[in-house]
Amino acid sequence: MHQEEAKVLWNRKVGPEYYRIGLTCEGGYSNARPGQFIMLRFPGRITPFLRRPFSIHQRILADGRTTGIELLYKVVGEGTKILSEIQTDDVVDILGPLGNGFFISNAHKDIYIVAGGIGVAPMVFLASYLEERGINPSRCTVFLGGRSTEDLLCRDDFLRIGMKLHITTDDGSAGDQCFVTHPLEAEFDKRRPDIVYACGPMDMLKCVIGIAEKYAAPCQVSIETMMACGIGACLGCAVERKGASDKYMHACMDGPVFDADMIKI
Ligand SMILES: Cc1cc2nc3c(=O)[nH]c(=O)nc-3n(C[C@H](O)[C@H](O)[C@H](O)COP(=O)(O)OP(=O)(O)OC[C@H]3O[C@@H](n4cnc5c(N)ncnc54)[C@H](O)[C@@H]3O)c2cc1C
Ligand code: FES
Repeated sequence: MHQEEAKVLWNRKVGPEYYRIGLTCEGGYSNARPGQFIMLRFPGRITPFLRRPFSIHQRILADGRTTGIELLYKVVGEGTKILSEIQTDDVVDILGPLGNGFFISNAHKDIYIVAGGIGVAPMVFLASYLEERGINPSRCTVFLGGRSTEDLLCRDDFLRIGMKLHITTDDGSAGDQCFVTHPLEAEFDKRRPDIVYACGPMDMLKCVIGIAEKYAAPCQVSIETMMACGIGACLGCAVERKGASDKYMHACMDGPVFDADMIKI
């Protein structure tokens, strides 16, 4: 874990409420894992008082070396509004990489990736990480769901890698008009994957976990909780453990990625 003032390389609007911000980083990110996150604050500003958590969306590479990271974020409140107004060459204070990240095994060949809305943010890093590890992209299927076509981000990132893509929207403006878990279950019916990775709204995660359980497939989910510190100090990010006397874990230290059979959500 490393704290630094990171220079902003770009901060581009990529959708009505969505932005991609590129940051230079001194160190620590070459070994970052997909699913890990950073805590961000604005130097010299009193508000917002607390840092905000964001997943690592991509690594920025130069000559094979990691020189920075990119975040993909949605403007939902004060902190993300301020972030959207940040200019190139400004600095932000980041602490990271934090958390555990997805567990990746070369034994897993058939992979389902499920992303709902801004839950796609860590999944692009996951997809490129799997590609680097020589996993055959044609055996990876991405299920991407959003409210509307503007909420479907990163389609080209997955297609460029060569992964299969199922698209759904709530309003039918792109792909099938249904929840993303519908095509997921249909694919499960045809072929059980070696692992499912999921990130998105809690209701979507519950449904993904239910499907994986039904077909006895391993499943890892990245959970979003409120996080005030990101380093195990505030105990504000408790996640209930399934069937154990030591009842709670912390999303910032034990997660944000959990094996589905470990947690109660
Ligand atoms: C591990 C982790 C990784 C995350 N990665 C990303 C990412 O890559 N991109 C991204 O856009 N967002 C991500 N988030 C969510 C992001 O941290 C919040 O959207 C952000 O903190 C909101 O700050 P704000 O000041 O703009 O909103 P606030 O003014 O604090 O809140 C505005 C609204 O957003 C809700 N909100 C605030 N924080 C969260 C949260 N953590 N989860 C769900 N709802 C929240 C509040 O309840 C409120 O309704 C992540 C959260 C976690 C825990
Ligand atoms: S965010 Fe403070 S303990 Fe997890």
